Amino acid sequence: MKIIMLGAPGAGKGTQAKMIAAKYDIPHISTGDIFRANIKNGTELGAKAKEYMDKGLLVPDELVVDLVIDRFKEPDCEKGYVLDGFPRTIPQAEALDKALTAIGESVDYAINVEVPDDNIINRMGGRRACVGCGATYHIVYSPTKVEGKCDTCGGDLIIRDDDKPETVKNRLSVYHEQTQPLIDYYTNKGIIAEVDGTVDMKDVFNAIVGILGE
Ligand code: AP5
Ligand code: MG
Repeated sequence: MKIIMLGAPGAGKGTQAKMIAAKYDIPHISTGDIFRANIKNGTELGAKAKEYMDKGLLVPDELVVDLVIDRFKEPDCEKGYVLDGFPRTIPQAEALDKALTAIGESVDYAINVEVPDDNIINRMGGRRACVGCGATYHIVYSPTKVEGKCDTCGGDLIIRDDDKPETVKNRLSVYHEQTQPLIDYYTNKGIIAEVDGTVDMKDVFNAIVGILGE
């Protein structure tokens, strides 16, 4: 099963993608997580990506596409994958289609997690991420058992550099301009599925399972 998660920054793509990956036993591939891991490890790619990410801009397509397509070659992708944060532009979607068509495959579902901008700005201020394992929490909606410490690995929790209110506003406008057109793109392909992302995380997931099947 090949799934794409669509939605604004903070809509809950990562939260839902992790649950999908666990239930359907497929890898969760997040380009944002890949870039953050590269930044943490001090790689050249990380340094380049950081310049754009800190401003709330998209990393150029040429730094993203090959990275993702190469990832599909890993053995864990045999049964499919859930893509979170990719594609994010029409050229990325076209490159993905081209790579899949070449091997006789295609995307099965593009799930759009719908959340209005006002809710997003509220959510981002409360998000916390673990420096150790990258797990995501929310101070109100998904708090950790011990304040400031990750439930999974005990690592410290931080506020992501790009979650500052000004940067979130930029990310939202970049989303509306460059990523939202993908909703039409996948609607035209007949594989779009819309879910309401404003309800409780578990209810969002139940709606997704209703689409993907048990
Ligand atoms: P990326 O990491 O993909 O960030 P994003 O799309 O901005 O999305 P987020 O991770 O911020 O939000 P999310 O939808 O995953 O929400 P989450 O589940 O965490 O990308 C970062 C940057 O990398 C980009 O800006 C760009 O520069 C670059 N990049 C990445 N991919 C790229 C690409 N393909 N091309 C070019 N550049 C690329 O949830 C948010 C918060 O809300 C959490 O605290 C969570 O606990 C909470 N929450 C989730 N669901 C609910 C709910 N139902 N109710 C209440 N709270 C909830
Ligand atoms: Mg995410």
